[in-house]
Amino acid sequence: MDTNFLQEYLADLPLGQVVFFPVLGSTNTEGKQRAEEGAPHLSLVAADEQTAGRGRMDRSWYSPTGAALAFSLVIRPDQNRAISTARLTGLGALAVCDILQSGYGLPAKIKWPNDVLVSGGKLAGVLVEAQWQGDEIHSAVLGIGINVARKSVPSQGELDFPATSVESVFEAPVDRWLLLKQVLGALLTRLPQLDQDRFIDDWQSNLAYRGKTVQILRDGAEPEIGRIQGLNHAGYLRLSSPGGEEKLFQSGDVKLRQVDRT
Ligand code: ATP
Ligand code: BTN
Repeated sequence: MDTNFLQEYLADLPLGQVVFFPVLGSTNTEGKQRAEEGAPHLSLVAADEQTAGRGRMDRSWYSPTGAALAFSLVIRPDQNRAISTARLTGLGALAVCDILQSGYGLPAKIKWPNDVLVSGGKLAGVLVEAQWQGDEIHSAVLGIGINVARKSVPSQGELDFPATSVESVFEAPVDRWLLLKQVLGALLTRLPQLDQDRFIDDWQSNLAYRGKTVQILRDGAEPEIGRIQGLNHAGYLRLSSPGGEEKLFQSGDVKLRQVDRT
């Protein structure tokens, strides 16, 4: 793969700049830099390997050479479309779910706020970073990492939550660049729906552990237990606590763990 080939391969999608790097620190860092330099809406930065891939709270995201997808899209608001980082995170996760379900027949679900699971293993993560002008988003970078081949999965000893890859659950070879094109297509289809109620409905109906009891873990706070009810209009998680009242959680640094497995 190289930039010219990728530009041609994705030519029928209405993207801005398209650039490909064999090795890059982080596609989100490069995307933010390009956004600051004026890269147009829907510019794409993709890399074969990231040496400093990031998840939330600067946790590291493993994307070794020749095995994973790592890419970031520059998103700009316009008069008709305000953007929120929470909804963009949902957009990325939902686009990956859409394609894994419809293109590969896989039972993909979203571990709120930003991970995609199949069969209890995490195979994709989304990281949205915004550049602010006052209290408005000037541009955002929506980054997605997908474990495609088995060797993209970090060793379990390094992980707090089990990981898997598309090829492990699909049980057949998967063309990474076709998968990239499919996920980008799903993102572009969903983007105009971002501020609609239907978008929250679709996001909510793809949540992992819906109706189940989960634990919410946050640094410096006692774990909280509750049953997942769904999402509010802002994409916050609605949990009913054992006492019966409803609590809302913003994504922030929240980790989700299932408690009952029935
Ligand atoms: P988790 O619930 O998986 O602990 P989290 O929601 O707390 O994750 P995130 O910021 O979503 O954390 O994800 C970052 C974490 O994902 C890293 O700390 C690491 O444990 C794990 N990770 C890193 N690379 C991969 C990968 N390629 N596939 C799956 N998991 C990964
Ligand atoms: C997470 O689960 O915390 C999110 C992981 C997001 C990883 C992707 S890979 C492409 C983009 N570049 C990065 O440095 N991170 C995101």
